Amino acid sequence: MKPINVGLLGIGTVGGGTYTVLKRNAEEITRRAGRPIRIVTVADKNLALARQVTGGEVELTDDAFSVVTDPGIDIVVELIGGYGVAKELVLKAIENGKHVVTANKALLAVHGNEIFAAAQKKGVMVAFEAAVAGGIPIIKALREGLTANRIEWLAGIINGTTNFILSEMRDKGLPFAEVLKEAQALGYAEADPTFDVEGVDAAHKATIMSAIAFGIPMQFDKAYIEGISKLDSVDIGYAEQLGYRIKLLGIARRRENGVELRVHPTLIPEKRLIANVEGAMNAVLVQGDAVGATLYYGKGAGAEPTASAVIADLVDVTRLHTSDPEHRVPHLAFQPDQVRDVPVLPIEEVVTSYYLRMRVEDKPGVLADITRILADSSISIEALIQKEAAEGEAHTDIIMLTHQTAEKNANAAIARIEALPVVQGKVVKLRMETL
Ligand code: HSE
Repeated sequence: MKPINVGLLGIGTVGGGTYTVLKRNAEEITRRAGRPIRIVTVADKNLALARQVTGGEVELTDDAFSVVTDPGIDIVVELIGGYGVAKELVLKAIENGKHVVTANKALLAVHGNEIFAAAQKKGVMVAFEAAVAGGIPIIKALREGLTANRIEWLAGIINGTTNFILSEMRDKGLPFAEVLKEAQALGYAEADPTFDVEGVDAAHKATIMSAIAFGIPMQFDKAYIEGISKLDSVDIGYAEQLGYRIKLLGIARRRENGVELRVHPTLIPEKRLIANVEGAMNAVLVQGDAVGATLYYGKGAGAEPTASAVIADLVDVTRLHTSDPEHRVPHLAFQPDQVRDVPVLPIEEVVTSYYLRMRVEDKPGVLADITRILADSSISIEALIQKEAAEGEAHTDIIMLTHQTAEKNANAAIARIEALPVVQGKVVKLRMETL
């Protein structure tokens, strides 16, 4: 059996995991793939690290371009990350007729349309299971397992760092900034945690899932993104009193006139399975018209969980690389000429329910004034708590859950509430999904 030759770009956490798992499970993987999958070259700027991980068993180079142009390489595994040199390397690999396996969600969400078009033209595969939710085979599920379905919506906890932070904020009642420091000390959050905590990483992943769920191009620039850095642990506590958990969700929903694509902290009923996904774990809930709801759960990051997804792609590519490109699973699940340019709706057009917290004067008629504004806007109240004013305090908190309404309608009502002289400061608004 002639081995298939792999060039590995980047031997950090995921690259190291890929090397280790591929070696440890070589026999079983070969039995599945039909031929050995052999890493022949590793490219990394840190040659000492590459030598340490590989034990010097393979060729090492600090010049990744020499790998993507090497005629002896069949598959390039890109684990460098980011949109810079990784994009050049992936396009160069495709140009040189190599199949590509990548874990790079940022690259695909932002430049995926260009990359898939290039791959299509060249008849090569670009596989990206590891780009979304690490070890969970969600791309396989969406692209193949659920192919009979009209997918209606999906919602995922697709960033482990923020889920860890939210779990800790709820468990310990601590503020965001304090838990972030703990997450950094434990190695969950990066030194610059912006992409994680501001929801950008989750939006990259939601963008990729929306494309393969609905057969639309990648439209990351149209995604609505709100992270958790401004979330107050007070709201996590109030949500809990009302029977809800707050999770950072990536949501893609089909609507008549477009799709919703959004990432934001979201109240979810605590009885839902996904509301109980804690710590750094990931989960994705997908609603198909035939199958109903299906839930996928597992580790969304880490060396071997992510390697599991990278190697699954390597096996897929190994099995299919001699097949006629026309008969392979299309990159974005739908045949390339069937990808439809459906618009992503602006956040003002999104329809959802809301959690509203406002600080008000504790005197007669205040609640009546607020509920009148909501009634005028046809916003129905689902639940309400009014806290007793603390000793010596003239103000108190009112917390309301509303039924569904368009975001622009909710915003207009909130502006009117904030203008009431009895309301102090801004109304805190969080979105809520019953899933
Ligand atoms: N930084 C991501 C997370 C893992 O915290 O889930 C890689 O996608």
